[in-house]
Amino acid sequence: MSRSPRIPHGTTWLLAAASVAAGCAVADALWRALPHKRAPPRAPAPRTGRLRRRGENGADADYASLMRSSRLSSMGELAGSLAHELDQPLTAIVSNAQAARQYLESDVIDMDEVREILKDVNDEACRASATVRQIRALIKGESRVLGPLDIGAAIDEALALVRGNALGRGIVLTRQVASPLPRVNGDAVQIQQLLLNVLLNACDAVDRGVPGSGTPREVTVMAHVAEGMVQIAVRDSGAGVDPGDLEHIFEPFVTSKPQGMGLGLSISRAIAARHGGTLDAWNNADRGMTFQFSLPQEGMPTRRGVRMPRGLAMAESSFKG
Ligand SMILES: Nc1ncnc2c1ncn2[C@@H]1O[C@H](COP(=O)(O)OP(=O)(O)O)[C@@H](O)[C@H]1O
Ligand SMILES: [Mg+2]
Repeated sequence: MSRSPRIPHGTTWLLAAASVAAGCAVADALWRALPHKRAPPRAPAPRTGRLRRRGENGADADYASLMRSSRLSSMGELAGSLAHELDQPLTAIVSNAQAARQYLESDVIDMDEVREILKDVNDEACRASATVRQIRALIKGESRVLGPLDIGAAIDEALALVRGNALGRGIVLTRQVASPLPRVNGDAVQIQQLLLNVLLNACDAVDRGVPGSGTPREVTVMAHVAEGMVQIAVRDSGAGVDPGDLEHIFEPFVTSKPQGMGLGLSISRAIAARHGGTLDAWNNADRGMTFQFSLPQEGMPTRRGVRMPRGLAMAESSFKG
């Protein structure tokens, strides 16, 4: 008997999407509540995106709120992707449940097959539930604890969340991750936030690209271990940045995007430093950029002499809370 998928009537993903939308409203409200000056009105940003500073008194803002706003803003960007990610297991559950009912109505019941179907239902339900948990944790910023973390799984979860977003923009996401990767000492929510920031930036860069250039639309995630550090690199085929802008993009409120908050990279660098690691970026020799996140594998000492990014003092005070 075939168990062909069909569109589910389930409402779980709608609820998830609604909670993401609600989260975005919260982010918006938070943003409005924060004490920051608006930049004076200016002409619309050019397509290539010149860097501008969005506000000037970010140092006075509550950094924990900013981290949350930034995370919720990523969630908003990912809404379509999340629906896609939840739709797949729900579709499989519905079609498997229908198949099981049909089996049970037949004269001769193949219990092994029924068991197999129920196992599939269970696995898919667990997958959907894990996605919902992951979204909820990201929205709430639940975890603040550094603990043993399967970094390979964290990369795959971030890729799963971004996949639909990339697909919708015609971007090919490639994964070149060594297996197995050693565990790291990390905060799952913050590592996810860092990976999502960098991945979404890479997709944005490819999307803006070099107009009419016909260049490939690619984002590649690579990960391996070198000298006790897990190194995760995200390489894109976008237009890159002016060399003089390379350090500025890590400053808070610096953005080239019309709707950008300019917080993703400063927060991501603070997260990397909190994990005893680094986040660096460079323009590729051919095209686009690479962002590399290095963090010590579990049990290795954190890197001494890590350069503290601007804004880290704010970040650390919020990490304590
Ligand atoms: N992969 C990339 N390619 C080119 N420019 C990038 C890339 N990632 C980030 N940037 C630049 O860095 C700026 C700051 O990024 P970020 O801090 O994440 O804020 P936002 O995404 O809200 O603009 C972006 O607006 C963009 O100009
Ligand atoms: Mg960003």
